[in-house]
Amino acid sequence: MRGPIAVFDSGVGGLTVVKELLKQLPQEAIVYFGDTARAPYGPRPKQEIIQFTEEIVHDLQRYHPKLVVIACNTATAVALDKVKKELSIPIVGVIEPGARAALKATKTGYIAVIGTEGTIKSKAYDEALLTHASNVRIMSQACPAFVPLVEKGEYRSSKAYSVVQEAIGHMRSYPIDCLILGCTHYPFLSDTIAKVMGSDVKLIHSAEETAREVGGIIAELNKKKLEGTAMISSQQKRTKELQRSEIVHRFICSGDLTTFRAIAEEWLGLELKKRKVIYERK
Ligand code: SIN
Repeated sequence: MRGPIAVFDSGVGGLTVVKELLKQLPQEAIVYFGDTARAPYGPRPKQEIIQFTEEIVHDLQRYHPKLVVIACNTATAVALDKVKKELSIPIVGVIEPGARAALKATKTGYIAVIGTEGTIKSKAYDEALLTHASNVRIMSQACPAFVPLVEKGEYRSSKAYSVVQEAIGHMRSYPIDCLILGCTHYPFLSDTIAKVMGSDVKLIHSAEETAREVGGIIAELNKKKLEGTAMISSQQKRTKELQRSEIVHRFICSGDLTTFRAIAEEWLGLELKKRKVIYERK
């Protein structure tokens, strides 16, 4: 099935999901929109996040995507159900996959969740976890200082360690064995978070599980398409191979393109090697 996978985030955080999509689904084109001019979404009122999400997801339809990934926990928590009803293509969020990954990983049933104020207030992770396993114990905390660090590209700085230590260092005294990074920006801080939490706490982020879910949906869409198509001639096969080799990935942001591009290139360097990539500012 033709058409890119559209991925949307409030800023650069969704690139952590893109990295996994590129690894698991290298034959798929990506169109990414990071609303960097208006990030972070976490502290914004619910109605505003819904309005931004609707506006962006509808605008992305100009690229005729086969599906949309809302790679922003805050937007998933407050707007996913609404936009799902408005579009006829599949829309995937990141909370359900993150919760599933944590439930697969936990041995003790004590799970911690960190995210933006919007995500934590929504209790979307608590709901997703408790729907699948009513006996888990959940501890959650908002970490509003993390997203600005990542958006500024300061995730490897020494400042990052003190910010993370101050926000979540106290969690070490609880018997948790899994920590859900409930914001797509947080995997940028994985090394630092791991240092603060210690090696007995497994860090969970939804990227891998989300990409697996996307892969499953695409396989299903392709199967349906094949069932409705007559046998493909060898000429058509050749054309398809050519199309595959000409995959173009498009990365769009609403804010400063230089910072956005530098972060995308650093984070996705290996995965984007030898690929056609367009960077643009909306
Ligand atoms: C934010 O914009 O505040 C973070 C995005 C997220 O929740 O993943």
